[in-house]
Amino acid sequence: MTDSKKKTSSITLNKVNEFIDKQVEISGWLYNKRSSGKIIFLQVRDGTGFIQATVIKGNVSDDLFNQLEHLTLESSLTVIGKLKKDDRSPTGFELEVFDVQIISKADDGYPIGKKKHGVDFLLDHRHLWLRSKRQRAIQLIRDEVIRAVYDFYKQQDFVKIDTPIFTPNACEGTTTLFEVDYFGGKSYLSQSGQLYLEAAIFSLRRVFDFAPVFRAEKSKTRRHLVEFWMTNAEAAFVNHEDNLKIQEEMISFIVAKVLSNKQEELRVLKRDIRPLEKIKPPFPRMTYKQAVLKLQKMNSNIKDGDDLGAPDEAKLSMESDKPLFIQFYPAKIKAFYMKRHPQDKEYVLGADLLAPEGYGEIIGGSERETDWKTLKQSLEDHNLFLKDFSWYLDLRRFGSVPHSGFGLGLERIIAWICGLKHVRETIPFPRMIYRNYP
Ligand code: 4AD
Ligand code: MG
Repeated sequence: MTDSKKKTSSITLNKVNEFIDKQVEISGWLYNKRSSGKIIFLQVRDGTGFIQATVIKGNVSDDLFNQLEHLTLESSLTVIGKLKKDDRSPTGFELEVFDVQIISKADDGYPIGKKKHGVDFLLDHRHLWLRSKRQRAIQLIRDEVIRAVYDFYKQQDFVKIDTPIFTPNACEGTTTLFEVDYFGGKSYLSQSGQLYLEAAIFSLRRVFDFAPVFRAEKSKTRRHLVEFWMTNAEAAFVNHEDNLKIQEEMISFIVAKVLSNKQEELRVLKRDIRPLEKIKPPFPRMTYKQAVLKLQKMNSNIKDGDDLGAPDEAKLSMESDKPLFIQFYPAKIKAFYMKRHPQDKEYVLGADLLAPEGYGEIIGGSERETDWKTLKQSLEDHNLFLKDFSWYLDLRRFGSVPHSGFGLGLERIIAWICGLKHVRETIPFPRMIYRNYP
């Protein structure tokens, strides 16, 4: 080993600040390259950042210079050189290279280039597409959102409870169930961990889960996946109004975390952050009835009693700066477990939270029915088999208490925060009605 080699520190690009004017080696991938005969500019990324590595003819052997001139994009390599501050470079740094080790030369013709690709092509190459700057920024924001969710719950004394994926019963109606034939009969992939969280509040008072859930969605839309991540929260002695307060605090907390820790990623995505800066509690509330009247004035053909369609939600959420709660939906169009409104039993003590800028529903939640008899009737009205819910009904027999909860769709909130048209880019490997590859 030469003296110069000994002094070389092996670093990652998120730490460049500590190594200005030092000799360093950086391992990563070649994502772009420019050459002018005497100089080669290697654009290198290492997963933690980006840098331009400049190779001047004469500073390396002719053989190496020649190899680098022909080095294919996405080859893996280690660049060794002196780290320089350089205000002209987009990253603020540059590496003056004196050696390069090629780890694995990529095949010619990396499929994803600078030209515009169709989305189906990109999704078919999702395993490679993930390497792009934009996709990387989305995944970093996803990571931040996940961490913010955990931090918020910790602050609010919610305990993590892992709910099962295989379930004997439906949580959100029978139309989107994935059937599994294994346990000596039909069971289903979880649509939401909620019912199990309800069991856990009797042990831990405030609980949450964060897990993949499954819905056999029948149509192709920009906001539906068949496998997605949901966090459910459930709390004893929390009523409908308190439930909304927890939700508005949580959403504001998540947005604030992303705004303060992920500025660079939001910039890569060209996200206008001004609308996000307005996300602070309280959020406006509107009843279902008011929403229907408003939509009818806006030329929607929604009828009283209909569920809000995606275009309806988009219209309402375009009108509001902040996320908007639509509360007290007709019981007929909501799940069996929601508590009826004490003043009008046709409606429920529940709300959906619509994200602004046209994004629509990101949360569904409610106070839960606590009375054994009413709940049993509701299960029957929804054509659900009592025997599958016997355990759930037990919860109303042994120390039933008022309680409420909600479920937040991870991909929906990320799409909104990142300003993406479609949820498919928010999850590393999307599963949609026509897609189970790669
Ligand atoms: O509104 P949902 O169906 O509510 C529940 O599952 C309740 N059990 C939650 C609870 O009260 N604990 O789903 C919750 C959220 C939706 O608001 C939406 O953000 C997301 O999950 N979601 C989907 N996200 C992506 N693709 C789909 N197919 C989704 N379906 C629901
Ligand atoms: Mg919903």
